[in-house]
Amino acid sequence: MGLLVACVVCVLLALSFPGIVSKLEDKLTKCGDFFFEEESPLIHGILENSEPQNNDYRVVCQKYKNKIRYATLYDTGKKIPLFSAYKYTGTKVFVKQESLQTWMIELELEPKDAEMSVPFENQARNKDYWIKNTYKYFPGTLFSMSHTADEETAESILTLTNSVPQTNGFRDGIWNLVDQTTKESMENDCIDNNDNLVAYVMTGAVPGNTMLNQRVNVPSYMWTAFCCYNSTTTSWVSKAYYTENKRKKATKIKLKSLEDLQGFLTTKLGGKVELFKNNCSLDDS
Ligand SMILES: *[C@@H]1O[C@H](CO)[C@@H](O)[C@H](O)[C@H]1NC(C)=O
Ligand SMILES: *[C@@H]1O[C@H](CO)[C@@H](O)[C@H](O)[C@H]1NC(C)=O
Repeated sequence: MGLLVACVVCVLLALSFPGIVSKLEDKLTKCGDFFFEEESPLIHGILENSEPQNNDYRVVCQKYKNKIRYATLYDTGKKIPLFSAYKYTGTKVFVKQESLQTWMIELELEPKDAEMSVPFENQARNKDYWIKNTYKYFPGTLFSMSHTADEETAESILTLTNSVPQTNGFRDGIWNLVDQTTKESMENDCIDNNDNLVAYVMTGAVPGNTMLNQRVNVPSYMWTAFCCYNSTTTSWVSKAYYTENKRKKATKIKLKSLEDLQGFLTTKLGGKVELFKNNCSLDDS
C-alpha cells in the first residue's frame, strides 16, 4: 500500500510538472560563478561562509538543460526564496512571456521517501497561489525574464523556487520600473576591460506577516542590487533598490546605495548583511 501510494506520487510528479533537475548543494558557491570575487553573500544567522545556518534554508543550484543558470537560497518553511543570484550579461530579443506559463517545481526538494510524507511539504505549488481558482497573488520571479541572456535561461527562471507572491499591479508597475532601470544602468555602467557587459546581481524578498493559503509567505518588500566594474571610470559600481510589495504608482523609483540596502536588510532580517565582497570593491584596506 505504502509503495503504491509512493509510486502514484512519483508518476504524478513526473507527469504533471516539467522536469527540472536542479541540484541541492551544501554551499551556495558550489552553484558556480554567480558571485562577485567568488564570495558568497553574508546574511548573519541565515547564510554564513556560503552555508545555510538554519534547516529551513536550502541552496538550490538552478540547473536547467544541463547547465546551472543561477543560484537560489530557498526557505522551505515559508516556501519562498530569500534571494536569487545571477550574472547579467545583456539580453537578446526572443519571444517568451513570463505570465501564464507553467511553473516548474524542484523534484529534489521533495522528500526522498514520498510514502511517508505529503508532497509539496517543502515548496510552493501553483495552486498555493490561488484562491477560489484564480490567482490571488501572482508568482513574481526574482531572476526576471527581462534580465536573461538566452532562451534557455529565460525558461529556467519559470520555477516557483525563484518566485514569490506579488501583489496585483506590483509586477507591471513599480517592479517593472526597477527591472528596467537596473537593466539600463547595467548596460551603461558595466562594461569591463575586455569590453564585455557583465554584472553580478542579487534579487530577493523580505518575508512578510501574511501566509497565502496558510502555506506561502507573502513578502513585504522586494529588493535588488548589482555590482560591476566600469572600465571607463575604472571603478567598481554598485546600485540598489528596494520597495514595498504593493501596487504603487510607477513613475519614480528611488536609487539606494548598496550600504543603504544592507542596512535595511539588517533591520528586517535581524543580522548583518553583506551582499558583495568588501561592499563591491577590491580595496582591502
Ligand atoms: C560608467 O561608464 C559610463 C561610460 O561607459 C558612464 O557613462 C557612466 O556614468 C559610468 N558610471 C558610473 C556609475 O561611474
Ligand atoms: C559594508 O557596508 C556595511 C554597511 O552596509 C558596513 O557596516 C561594513 O563595514 C562595510 N564593509 C566593508 C568591508 O567596508
